[in-house]
Amino acid sequence: MSILVTGGLGYIGSHTVVELINNNFDVIIVDDLSNSEKFILDNIEEITGKRPIFYPFDLRRKELLTQVFDAHNIEGCINFAASKAVGESMTEPLKYYENNLFSLINVLQEFKERNISNFIFSSSCTVYGQADEMPIDENTPLKEAESSYGKTKQMGEDILKDFSRAYQKKVSLLRYFNPIGAHPTALLGELPAGIPNNLVPYVTQTAAGIREKLSIWGDDYPTEDGTAVRDYIYVVDLAKAHVAALKKLLNSENETVLDIYNLGTGKGSSVLEVVKAFELANNVPVPYQICPRREGDITVAYANADKAEKELGWKSETSLEESLKTTWEWQKYLNDRNN
Ligand code: UD1
Repeated sequence: MSILVTGGLGYIGSHTVVELINNNFDVIIVDDLSNSEKFILDNIEEITGKRPIFYPFDLRRKELLTQVFDAHNIEGCINFAASKAVGESMTEPLKYYENNLFSLINVLQEFKERNISNFIFSSSCTVYGQADEMPIDENTPLKEAESSYGKTKQMGEDILKDFSRAYQKKVSLLRYFNPIGAHPTALLGELPAGIPNNLVPYVTQTAAGIREKLSIWGDDYPTEDGTAVRDYIYVVDLAKAHVAALKKLLNSENETVLDIYNLGTGKGSSVLEVVKAFELANNVPVPYQICPRREGDITVAYANADKAEKELGWKSETSLEESLKTTWEWQKYLNDRNN
């Protein structure tokens, strides 16, 4: 059975491809390499012993996508392909609406025309905005997203809800909290383009001496140590949740399914706790300075992930320290590659 993985050479996509192959799925990757690199394909092969079929093109090129569907017996899709830089989405909103939504709709049209079901959408806890209560469960009301990137995730969810209902399709919306870490082989991980925006890649590059100092955006939040709190989930655990969600769709006897799951650890960690955990796990210092709050940041977000545990039999297993060790090994691998 072939599963199409769009954005399959990206950070979460590549880890998910490995888990799919480990679970005997045939994988077809479409990735335009806009935020990923070709060597990831070699590394997936090194880890799994299997080289997935790979097509390098932009999903907005519908005619090329049609050819892929003509050539393979595709029975499901995990859709990672999207632009994801929050700041850029505010200055280039049209790029985000066009790229993230047109590419999604093109795949859905193939699904509709060919009677294919089983679609997994990469969503984000950003759809909740600053929730009024913690932890955040799947019934927590959605608030207007802060960024155009976040809005593309909300719109993507809406499109998929309608798609599932109108065409009787099986759909799973996976709302990730903050993915971190790298593959235990150190052959896959996050490849931040330019200066990282996200905390863990910035911490890692600071420890490696690529960045001089981490800026901690605000220490005056109403939290225990004053820094903002997030739910950091290990990327391999996250990847495994995709396989569990896919199997649930494939095994469901219902024609129409709309699953929604929060994927997090259920535990909040502050920025300072992450920095300290990194230092402790890897025995390297992370110089930092306290700076004013970053615009658009929320105070606290962590998941109630009980629904995923109950319905998918999945839960996060890896500690913050363990995840941060893998990140450091991945950074060392990148340093060696670049030398
Ligand atoms: C960000 C995005 C979110 C996206 C997610 C993907 C914003 C406002 N939100 O979430 O839409 O889904 O990434 O992973 O960009 N921090 C520092 N110094 C840094 C970097 C971050 O102190 O150099 C702090 C932030 O203020 C925040 C925490 O670390 O409190 C986590 O930041 P980040 O990794 O960027 O994730 P989010 O902001 O939660």
